[in-house]
Amino acid sequence: MRSILVVNPKGGSGKTTLATNLASFYAVWDVPVGLVDLDSQKSSTDWLKSRPESASTIQGFYGLKRKIDLPQDLRRVIYDSPAKVSLASVSKLINIVDVVLIPVLPSAIDMRATAKFIADLLIKVKVRHKPVKIAVVGNRMQASYKSSALLENFLENADIPFLAKLRASQNYVHVGREGLGIFDMTPSTVKQDVETWKPLVNWIEQKTKE
Ligand SMILES: Nc1ncnc2c1ncn2[C@@H]1O[C@H](COP(=O)(O)OP(=O)(O)O)[C@@H](O)[C@H]1O
Ligand SMILES: [Mg+2]
Repeated sequence: MRSILVVNPKGGSGKTTLATNLASFYAVWDVPVGLVDLDSQKSSTDWLKSRPESASTIQGFYGLKRKIDLPQDLRRVIYDSPAKVSLASVSKLINIVDVVLIPVLPSAIDMRATAKFIADLLIKVKVRHKPVKIAVVGNRMQASYKSSALLENFLENADIPFLAKLRASQNYVHVGREGLGIFDMTPSTVKQDVETWKPLVNWIEQKTKE
């Protein structure tokens, strides 16, 4: 089982979009996948509830406080975390996951806040028992946007990849309303968006760094 935590204390950075679409990616490839909603707003739980029965299966779980017993047959588990999550909660979660994805919006304020969050996180990772891979995912990126030198320099020094640059796209909004991800759609209708996910899923599926 490989576990993936999607986290950024900043609300609206794209955690739920990233988590639900990643879940749909595994589901359409018949990989048994669980989606754990850690947010009391229950956005990914609601998304899953509206998922059509005909769509490929994603198993849903909820709980920030209680321990979740996940079925052993799950191959991938994705944790969607709430905004304003405390560093203490993240550090607990870090101990149970293999991969951490941090979505960030292309604004100077968001990028600066994210650099600070990662700096704090890295201190926690140092005392971690098993290896964890961390990457930043640019979300709602526009071709014209020049990403923050501060964040990029910081990531380079910390050896953290700035992996994918997901476009601002109404496709996420439209399919999300129906409990679907872009991977559930006919590929030709979401081709440009699916392309932007390739570096991300390839990187997640690479063997965890020892
Ligand atoms: N790449 C994107 N293109 C267009 N809209 C997006 C994109 N990513 C997120 N959104 C929209 O932005 C809002 C916040 O995203 P969400 O994933 O819920 O963030 P978070 O879970 O971090 O609070 C949602 O309405 C979502 O549909
Ligand atoms: Mg959310």
